Amino acid sequence: MQDSRLARLIVRQAQKRHLAALWAAAAGVAPGMTLLDIGAGSGALSFEYAALVGPAGRVIALDPDGECIGHIRAEAERRGLAIRAIVGSAEALPALDAAPDRIMLTDALHHMDDPAAALGALRAILPPHGLLFIAEYDPAGPGAVGAKLARRTAPGRVVALLGAAGFTIVNHAPAPDEHYTFTATA
Ligand SMILES: C[S@@+](CC[C@H](N)C(=O)[O-])C[C@H]1O[C@@H](n2cnc3c(N)ncnc32)[C@H](O)[C@@H]1O
Repeated sequence: MQDSRLARLIVRQAQKRHLAALWAAAAGVAPGMTLLDIGAGSGALSFEYAALVGPAGRVIALDPDGECIGHIRAEAERRGLAIRAIVGSAEALPALDAAPDRIMLTDALHHMDDPAAALGALRAILPPHGLLFIAEYDPAGPGAVGAKLARRTAPGRVVALLGAAGFTIVNHAPAPDEHYTFTATA
């Protein structure tokens, strides 16, 4: 039986699954791609991405929360989705058997203890044709939905972090539900 913490996370994060199609379109996700979903949580968006990349593609969902990863594994099997779910952190990435075409880092950067190390590790595994996609809650928003204002990361900080990690920013845009987004190449 699911514990109540996991059950609450599943319900709360499922309310954001409409964002997966927006994030995927902004990142140019296409059928057949390998997509690395960093900080996947309970997988609400990973399941949507798996449907978008289709049977020829796959999603690798990574999160330090073992209960969330267990839920993703069980749900992927139940739904017949090509998702490999791994317990781990962005700062200490496990070996992957395929280079990702897209790295999705959505509403996760502000949770990380060491975002600079995380972005450095992600840049090291992103191939030249690949894209990193970041979505974060904007501290300039009203705070009606999403992370508490005090916990949000300003876009200027993301620009600095991306630059320090050696990424080249391709696009930066405002986005729904008090978000902003970045796409970047290695
Ligand atoms: C709010 S959830 C985001 C879920 C999903 N990506 C979304 O867009 O809704 C943030 C997740 O980041 C994870 N996280 C925290 N630190 C992390 C790290 N160092 N590396 C990878 N994931 C991390 C947390 O465990 C949590 O599940």
